[in-house]
Amino acid sequence: MNLESLKGRHLIDPEDFTMEELQALLDLGLKMEARPEDYADCCKGKIMGTLFYEPSTRTRLSFESAMLRLGGQVLGFSDAAVSSAAKGESLADTVRVMDDYAHTLVMRHPREGAPKLASQYATVPVINAGDGGHQHPTQTLTDLLTLQKYRGAIENLQVAFCGDLLFGRTVHSLLKTLCRFPGMTFYLVSPTELRIPGHLRDELQHRYHITLHETPHLDDCIEKIDLLYMTRIQKERFFNEEEYVKLKDSFILTRDKLKTAKEDLMVLHPLPRVNEIQYEVDEDPRARYFEQATMGVYIRMALLSAVMGVKLA
Ligand code: NCD
Repeated sequence: MNLESLKGRHLIDPEDFTMEELQALLDLGLKMEARPEDYADCCKGKIMGTLFYEPSTRTRLSFESAMLRLGGQVLGFSDAAVSSAAKGESLADTVRVMDDYAHTLVMRHPREGAPKLASQYATVPVINAGDGGHQHPTQTLTDLLTLQKYRGAIENLQVAFCGDLLFGRTVHSLLKTLCRFPGMTFYLVSPTELRIPGHLRDELQHRYHITLHETPHLDDCIEKIDLLYMTRIQKERFFNEEEYVKLKDSFILTRDKLKTAKEDLMVLHPLPRVNEIQYEVDEDPRARYFEQATMGVYIRMALLSAVMGVKLA
């Protein structure tokens, strides 16, 4: 399978790509990780535009690092306050203009659906780098590449998602994608207030025929799982501070809590971490969240080169 089918395509929702396309991207991501120097010039003459209307460290900078490593160039803004949005410019107008300045646009926005809207005004590929509490497809690609590299085949895994499953867009995208791989079992560990959105539950159950085990206790599944996906309580999406304060320390992963977990468990976290994983866990070989952040560069190199349809060495 080559990646030609991805040329010119938008990535708004992880379902935009077929399983074959996802696998081809992962294969390319692993090749780029092994021999980045082979790809050092393949985006020469190309420009990536970043439109970030929400804070970001890893996503924006790993996109930028990816583009620079491919020999391309980057421009954009990392804060809506320094863009013309602050003067009242519409998203559609900003996109129409940026479309002429860059060969692909990477957008993060607090409003769900904003990158989708942008894709309707753009002639170049638009990549969703996170829209509100909705989706974050390139984090999912990062998570998949980490699994592929450190685990091998992505199949027959018992996976626990823990934390803010209501607002956590990384969870929504990863759940919607992992359920397309064979033999997955999901444990959804959250306070009742932060269970996954009803529409996602319906989709997983009725469209993908997935059995979901929802529980407020990590202890219910810690011994069985192969992957523990920890997430931050998404403070910025809460309607009131009081509710956030009540829920913010719902789960704190410690060395002690991992005592009964499998030897080959993998602990992932999209980062940033606030309080949900204690620093002592970082020393545990099962903690892979920093390697995961590294993988984000390589999968974004693969994605950028594929959607811009550049010739690979
Ligand atoms: C995540 C996000 O922005 O959704 N961060 C990231 O992109 N790695 C997770 C989060 O902010 O909690």
